[in-house]
Amino acid sequence: MTVIKRPILKTALPGPKARAIVKRDQRTLSPSYTRDYPAVIERGQGVWLTDADGNVLLDFCAGIAVNSTGHSHPRVVEAIKRQAEKFIHYSGTDFYYEPEVALAERLISVSPTGRDSRVFFCNSGAEAVEGALKLARYRTGRQQFIAFIGAFHGRTMGAVSCTGSKTAQKKGFFPTMPGVTHVPYPNCYRCVFNRTYPGCSLECVKYIEDIVLKTILPPEEVAGMVFEPVQGEGGYVVPPVEAVRALRALCDKHGILLIADEIQSGMGRTGTWFAMEHFKVRPDIITIAKGMASGMPIGAIIAPARVMNWKPGSHGSTYSGNPVCCAAGIATFDVIKGGLLRNAGIVGGYLTAEFKRMQRKYDIIGDVRGRGLMIGVEIVESKKSKAKSHGLMEEILHEAFRRGLLMLGCGTNTLRICPPLVITRDEAAAGAEIIEQCIRKVAK
Ligand SMILES: Cc1ncc(COP(=O)(O)O)c(C=O)c1O
Repeated sequence: MTVIKRPILKTALPGPKARAIVKRDQRTLSPSYTRDYPAVIERGQGVWLTDADGNVLLDFCAGIAVNSTGHSHPRVVEAIKRQAEKFIHYSGTDFYYEPEVALAERLISVSPTGRDSRVFFCNSGAEAVEGALKLARYRTGRQQFIAFIGAFHGRTMGAVSCTGSKTAQKKGFFPTMPGVTHVPYPNCYRCVFNRTYPGCSLECVKYIEDIVLKTILPPEEVAGMVFEPVQGEGGYVVPPVEAVRALRALCDKHGILLIADEIQSGMGRTGTWFAMEHFKVRPDIITIAKGMASGMPIGAIIAPARVMNWKPGSHGSTYSGNPVCCAAGIATFDVIKGGLLRNAGIVGGYLTAEFKRMQRKYDIIGDVRGRGLMIGVEIVESKKSKAKSHGLMEEILHEAFRRGLLMLGCGTNTLRICPPLVITRDEAAAGAEIIEQCIRKVAK
């Protein structure tokens, strides 16, 4: 097997075949999709993708933080094939089969919700959030939720009600689910209270306690707090440990369930199974999806048995725990367990150091943050002004694409670095080098 060291470009990007497919796509697919640049994927292996024209591209976004084991990992492919040959579907909501149990057992064995947890399987991240909202209401008998500004929890009606990332995600869809109050996320680089951590006395948590819960939202009516331990779509923002612990304490004080949305941050992405582990905080409910099955569509809600106490018929789904997805999930879990947490920590540490080095060199890099292979590089007009850059981040994405590196943005002005967890240090170095070339170019 030849080792690919950097992108191999045979045409200018996009090539003619890619352009033709994009044209057909524009005539047929929903215009609501958000494509930053015309990458047309034909096949993948590890962190390398081949496009429709035979160009080999380096993947720094893993299909939005999904392809945890890389593209078409042989163990995942084999598991999918073997299960598909046996049976493809038989509705885990109404019947039993072993792969669903085996995946649940594995997830429970690492879940910070504890070994006495139960798992509900669904088909996507938004569905997991939707189910978590229902479970929190069911368990507490309360109706209200606290969510965070900048959050992304999905696009179904309940999930989008908790989303607070971009108005385009809500425009035209009101009324959404009533009963969600958004509060500032603990974002120290852009503190809305203009305070500096750690001298701030956690003003953002105090605001919830002293203002929100005393003036507009009776705490005894709040079912859950929906919280991303690393805010994903909002800009890969990492909150201070003390803030997460203070939120836990606030929830405990008022009997509010802490729902950790680990759809993006979970399954090894941050170098631990779940990002909540970095804070040593136990959530009451966890939602996962994305990296769970290397790209097969499956999500899950995990909660202790005392929380997941709903009765038969209260929640379900035809495709719940699809056996082929579960087989992919089991293989994915085993591959992650076999060394990817460690790899995410090591290669993530290397990449973070590289971006911090670039931050010292280029005035347009305002902040570098993250855990493991979930790294945000915030692009600004200048370090001093911290003003959000207008279009610079997008320019970097486009430049990178033209050089054969696929990357996404998050927030309004942050580069989102979330390659497959199998990425090697050399592959990471090749990507970092391309990103530096692009930053150098647009910084001029
Ligand atoms: C934290 C978080 N929650 C929920 C979702 C929604 O997941 P899905 O797109 O699978 O519905 C996402 C997707 O980006 C996410 O990042």
